[in-house]
Formats: sequence, C-alpha cells, structure tokens
Amino acid sequence: MSTVDLMETSKNPPLKVEKLSVNRSGQTVLEDVCLTINEGEFVGLVGPNGGGKTTLLLTILGLLKSRKGIIELYGHTKPSGEIFRKLGWVSQHASNLPKNIKLTVKELIQLGTLNSGNMFWRYSTDQNERVDRAIKLADLESVQDRNVSNLSGGQRQRAVIARVLASEADFILLDEPLVGIDRESRNSLLKFLDQLCHEAQKTILMVSHDIAAIQQASHRMIFLEEKIRYDGAADCFPGLAELANLRGIEPVHESNNSENMLYQLENLEGK
Ligand SMILES: Nc1ncnc2c1ncn2[C@@H]1O[C@H](COP(=O)(O)OP(=O)(O)OP(=O)(O)O)[C@@H](O)[C@H]1O
Ligand SMILES: [Mg+2]
Repeated sequence: MSTVDLMETSKNPPLKVEKLSVNRSGQTVLEDVCLTINEGEFVGLVGPNGGGKTTLLLTILGLLKSRKGIIELYGHTKPSGEIFRKLGWVSQHASNLPKNIKLTVKELIQLGTLNSGNMFWRYSTDQNERVDRAIKLADLESVQDRNVSNLSGGQRQRAVIARVLASEADFILLDEPLVGIDRESRNSLLKFLDQLCHEAQKTILMVSHDIAAIQQASHRMIFLEEKIRYDGAADCFPGLAELANLRGIEPVHESNNSENMLYQLENLEGK
C-alpha cells in the first residue's frame, strides 16, 4: 500500500455499512442494515438470539457473502490483506480452548503475531515487543508462563483478546466475550476494553447479551433484530416497553403486567 493510500485509510472510518442484506439458508437474516463506526468508538451490539449479530460480524470479516449492500473497511470496499490485518476477531468460542492443550499464555499471544510472511522464521524484535505490550495491557504478566488451561475464565478471555492485540489489529470485533465469566472478571474485562479505546486508540464492536454491562462500558449501542431497531448513545438505550414497540412486539394482555414484562426481558436477554 502506498503512503497516499495509508493516509487515505487513516482518514476513513474503520467501518461503513450501507443497506446490507444477508440471507442464510434462503432466509433473510439481515435487511437494509446501515451503520458507521468511527475510530476510537466502543460500540455494543445487542439483540435477541438469532437476531443476526454474529452474521453481521462474519459478513464484515468477509466470511459470509451479502445479498446486497456495501461494506467499507477504512474506505476500501475491496479490502487488501493489509486492511484485513487491521481487523481483530475474537469469536463466540475463542476462549473455549481444549482442556488438555499444552500452551503457555505467552505462546498463545505470540500466535497473534504470525502471518503467512513470518510464520517459518524466529520471532523478530518487533513481534516480541508487540507480545510484551499485549501481555502488559491485558495485565497477564504474572501468569504469562502458566499453561492456558490453568487460567480462570476471565484470564483466559483476556488472553485471547491479548492475542488479537499482539497482531496489528486496530479494529477489534468481539462476539460474546462476557459469557461464562464471573462478575469481577466481567468488570475488569470491560474496564480493560474501555482502556483499549481511550489509551490504545482501538475501535471496538462487541456483541453481548448482557445489556446492563454493555450499557455501562460502551459509548454507543446498537439493537439488531434483522434490522437495526436502535442505534444511539448507550445512556439513552430504550427501556423494555419502548424496545418492545421498536421491535414491533404487541402487548399480549391489556395491561402491561409483570408477566408480560418478564416475557419481554427473557426475549431480550436471549438466555
Ligand atoms: N450456519 C448457519 N447456516 C444457516 N443459517 C444459520 C447459520 N448460523 C445461523 N443461522 C441463522 O441465521 C440467523 C441469525 O443467526 P446469528 O447466529 O447471526 O444470530 P445471533 O444474533 O448471533 O444469535 P445468538 O445471540 O444466539 O448468538 C438465525 O436465524 C440462524 O438460525
Ligand atoms: Mg451469535
């Protein structure tokens, strides 16, 4: 990529999606989705099970094809390997590492620095520096030589995120990183992600069912259920009744009694 291309890339937002529609197994999963994510934003993506959150992430990453619409990454509609290297992906099951795996935390994070051009060579000074920086950022210095299978759920989650940090990724997409971790780990993970935006200038798009947690941590929230039903400041995220209205859920009972509220809450939380 030329210097001019690089300057253009840095001026453009990490993500711009226009009128995106995606089908899976012949069914419409996403319809007319439009959104832009600017550099340094921490965006929470929420919605019911099957609402299309993972599908959106996989389409952004180029792993699923769209039926129509445009996805622009750093201003490029046909991203090169260099643009894709700016993306980091932590999948829904990333921290479910095999129980008998023999890999230290540091070795796991080193894997994040590998690409097709360097995988058969020794780790360079630059790779080692990136690994040390990621370990420090994720506060894993004291456990870096420990086997990953001996980590707590929260530490394991931070380790898989640190692996992405050791790559050259600036835009990090996370799918459900809060699942299976205790309250304390969840709070420290959210603080860590917030720091990545403010101190390391990363951009984050994070899927979660934990609306209360994501509302505390993110700057902006998107509610996705086939279409975008809400996109705005996290502080202004709609309450249950307003959300039901945005989702086209009609009241089942005449009065909005507590049973009805519980039903909506279960649907919303998806679990
Ligand atoms: N591999 C697949 N093949 C075909 N259809 C799929 C596949 N995976 C998901 N779908 C369908 O796509 C729709 C959206 O699924 P998706 O996984 O994107 O939802 P989600 O919002 O991530 O849900 P969850 O909160 O449960 O993770 C669902 O109707 C689902 O059945
Ligand atoms: Mg999903």
